[in-house]
Amino acid sequence: RKYLETKHIGREIFYFDTLDSTNLKAKELAANEQKEGTVVIAEEQTNGRGRLGRSWSSPKKKGIWMSIILTPEIEPTDAAKVTQVAAAAVWKGINEVGVKTQIKWPNDIVLNGKKVCGVLTEMSGELNRLNYLVVGIGINANMSDEDFPEEIRGLATSLKIELNKEVERKELIGRILNNFEELYEELIHNNSIDKSIKICVENSALIGKDVRLILKGKEEEAKAIDISKEGELIIQDKNGDISKIISGEVSVRGL
Ligand code: BTN
Repeated sequence: RKYLETKHIGREIFYFDTLDSTNLKAKELAANEQKEGTVVIAEEQTNGRGRLGRSWSSPKKKGIWMSIILTPEIEPTDAAKVTQVAAAAVWKGINEVGVKTQIKWPNDIVLNGKKVCGVLTEMSGELNRLNYLVVGIGINANMSDEDFPEEIRGLATSLKIELNKEVERKELIGRILNNFEELYEELIHNNSIDKSIKICVENSALIGKDVRLILKGKEEEAKAIDISKEGELIIQDKNGDISKIISGEVSVRGL
């Protein structure tokens, strides 16, 4: 509570020692009438979920594993915008505690080329109506190298490894939720995510670089040139043709 200055995000916080996944719990709560802004936090996840069906390692008390329930009045096709808002809010929060990271579109935060945070936005609703969103945020805060599963050592890092000291997780959670509320309100009130996009572009790990994209199972090379106002990655292929990619369609490697 000490660090939280929000009006509605995190006004209700469900805190657990152990959960299978904060996203699963948040979806269960949202289905049972839990409202916009409710936050679920766990010290440990036994079945942490990542994008594209991957798992997410979530050891006890070492990280920030949390999910936010949201019920914005936006089109289901705009759900990816909330991921950009979350990435920007996390970037800003981590920056405020003294670590300069980069945002790897659409949903990763990296530090020295290694992953330090991932965002997983899940949606419930129909084609034309959004019921609710759950935005899951996983931050490798205080892990040491040996806390990571062997397969991802070298690919993942933590704030503690980079800072050489532990981060105060409560403070970071408060800062992230404060930033999230501010950036999310722009979406709700002005139907714009310009402030978030600005952060994502200025601190992008991809823009200006050649990237490999997996588009519908096919690998392609292109140059990342910008992020659109809608949150799509704008790329230019070898022939000079420019196109936009919606998050969810691709997996970006090549960093
Ligand atoms: C990714 O990079 O693939 C996204 C990882 C998202 C992990 C977080 S941890 C809190 C929330 N609960 C989950 O099960 N996953 C997300």
